[in-house]
Amino acid sequence: MDTQTQKNTNEDFSEQQCWRCNKIFQAKIVDNGQERHWQDTCNDCWTPEFEIEFQEKKKRLIEERKERLRESIEKHWLQVCPPLYRDTDPSRLPQNQLKEAMKWEYGPKGLLFHGPTGIGKTRIAWQVMKKLIDSDRRITAFDSTDFVNTCAEKFMEGAGNSWVNKLIKCQLLFIDDLGNEPSGERGAGEIFHIIKRRGEEMLPVIITTNSVGTELAGKLRGPEDRGSALVRRLREFCTPIAF
Ligand SMILES: Nc1ncnc2c1ncn2[C@@H]1O[C@H](COP(=O)(O)OP(=O)(O)OP(=O)(O)O)[C@@H](O)[C@H]1O
Ligand SMILES: [Mg+2]
Ligand SMILES: [Zn+2]
Repeated sequence: MDTQTQKNTNEDFSEQQCWRCNKIFQAKIVDNGQERHWQDTCNDCWTPEFEIEFQEKKKRLIEERKERLRESIEKHWLQVCPPLYRDTDPSRLPQNQLKEAMKWEYGPKGLLFHGPTGIGKTRIAWQVMKKLIDSDRRITAFDSTDFVNTCAEKFMEGAGNSWVNKLIKCQLLFIDDLGNEPSGERGAGEIFHIIKRRGEEMLPVIITTNSVGTELAGKLRGPEDRGSALVRRLREFCTPIAF
């Protein structure tokens, strides 16, 4: 029911004054593609030409809104993606893994890229996240060492807990090079906590790492074999892509 020539069957009417003939009439809600508002032209003044003009304007507004959204998310991607990974040429990346990764759609299950160094894990992760430009999803991204350093700073400033809570609730968390962070730091434990909590919140993480299984568990070793517990969670919460 979005054209004004259609008859109303519900009771959502309001008395409005027609801007053309000044007559008071029973207006209904119209949706112009941008917002919903009361009809401002009475049915007598609403000519077929008006209807065409209205529909064209509506289409234009919807297109403009989509374009603005695209632009804002593209800007967001450029802000979060390190310059090195912005101009990736997809034909130079391992094609099977790229194809597999690009199938990913935003949802509770994230992605775990694992394999040797220099093979395109980080680049593919950024290509996947660029695809989110079509949806309205925000990315929070860290290199694991930066994560640990930022974490130490935040806790020193007394802002650690709220920072961690934000990371638990953010739409998509990307951690590059998990297992490379200096161990024994507070941040290493917080990564575990955040990944566990995000799994419970059913929010995705995208992770790249050089090691998997017991090797990764060893690198992440902490109190009470946190490493194995984290690896188990990553297996459960992420689709693994081996390089
Ligand atoms: N513009 C480019 N487009 C596509 N691939 C590139 C480009 N420039 C360099 N590469 C390739 O990308 C590879 C590195 O990719 P990337 O940084 O994603 O690897 P990685 O698997 O994340 O490595 P690490 O585990 O060390 O972080 C290099 O081996 C290089 O051949
Ligand atoms: Mg990398
Ligand atoms: Zn009128």
